Amino acid sequence: MEIYTKLHHLIKPFSKVISVWDSSPQAILMNDLKSTLKEDIRYQSEKDKRTLIKKVLRRLAVLHSTSFSETAIDLPNYQITSQWHEWCSDQLIRLCSRNHWANSNWIKVIDYAYDQLDLTNYKQSSPQVLTHEDPHFENIFYRDEWVWFIDWEWAAIASPLRDITILCQDLYDIGLIQFVRESYQEILKNNKLHIPSVDYLRDFNYLYIHHTTMMLAWEIEKYFQGHTTEEQVQVMINFKIREIKRITNETLIFYH
Ligand SMILES: Nc1ncnc2c1ncn2[C@@H]1O[C@H](COP(=O)(O)OP(=O)(O)O)[C@@H](O)[C@H]1O
Ligand SMILES: [Mg+2]
Repeated sequence: MEIYTKLHHLIKPFSKVISVWDSSPQAILMNDLKSTLKEDIRYQSEKDKRTLIKKVLRRLAVLHSTSFSETAIDLPNYQITSQWHEWCSDQLIRLCSRNHWANSNWIKVIDYAYDQLDLTNYKQSSPQVLTHEDPHFENIFYRDEWVWFIDWEWAAIASPLRDITILCQDLYDIGLIQFVRESYQEILKNNKLHIPSVDYLRDFNYLYIHHTTMMLAWEIEKYFQGHTTEEQVQVMINFKIREIKRITNETLIFYH
C-alpha cells in the first residue's frame, strides 16, 4: 500500500491499477489481468517465447529509464548481502540430511562462487535506476497487447540487471538466458540508458549468480512444503547449480 501510494505516478503506466485508497479500509483496485506469463509461456513455441520475452524486456527498459527524484520517492538502495548465500547453504544441508539423492558438492559450488567472486561485497557497476525487484513470471501479464507488472512491494533503486536476472529465474534453457542477456543489452542501446558493455556483463553475471542462489533456496523450500515433487526439484537444482558453475567460470575468466 505504501509503495503504491508513494510511486503511483511512476508505476501507473506499468500496473493497470485503477485506484488506491490508503485510509481505512485500505484497498487497491486493479484490472483482472487473467493468466500470468508463467501460464502463457508454457505451451508456446521457441519463437513465440522469444517474441514475448523481448516485449517484457522493452517494457522493463522503459521502467528503468524513468526519471525520478531520489529524495521524492525515498526507496531503499538494493545491495547484495550474505543472506541468500547463508539461506541456500542451510537449505542444501537440510536437503542432504534428508535425501540420499542430494549431493553435498552442490554446497561447494555455491561457496566457491561467493568466495572466488567476493560476491557479498560486490558493488553494482551500472547506473542505479527504478527497479521492480521481483519481476518473475507470476508477477507479469500480457494483456491487451501490452505487458503489465503486479506486486511492486520490493521496488527499489538498483542496477537494471537486478530485474533482468530475476526474470531469468523462470527460464530453464541456456539459449533463452543468453537471449535475454544479449537482447536487453541491444534494447538499451536504443534507449536513454547507456551502460558500458563491461559493466553490463559484470552486473548481469554477479546478480545472476546471486539470484540463482536465492531461487535455489526458495525452490528447495517449496519442495519441503510439498508444493513440488522430487523429480521437479531435482531438475531445478541440477539446472541452477550448472548455471552457477557456468557463470562463475565465465566471470573468473573474463571479468575478474
Ligand atoms: N490483477 C490481477 N489479475 C490477475 N491475476 C492476479 C492479479 N493480481 C494478482 N493475481 C494473481 O495472484 C497471484 C499473487 O498476487 P501477488 O500480488 O503477486 O501476491 P504475492 O505477493 O503473494 O506474490 C499472482 O501471481 C496472480 O496469479
Ligand atoms: Mg507475486
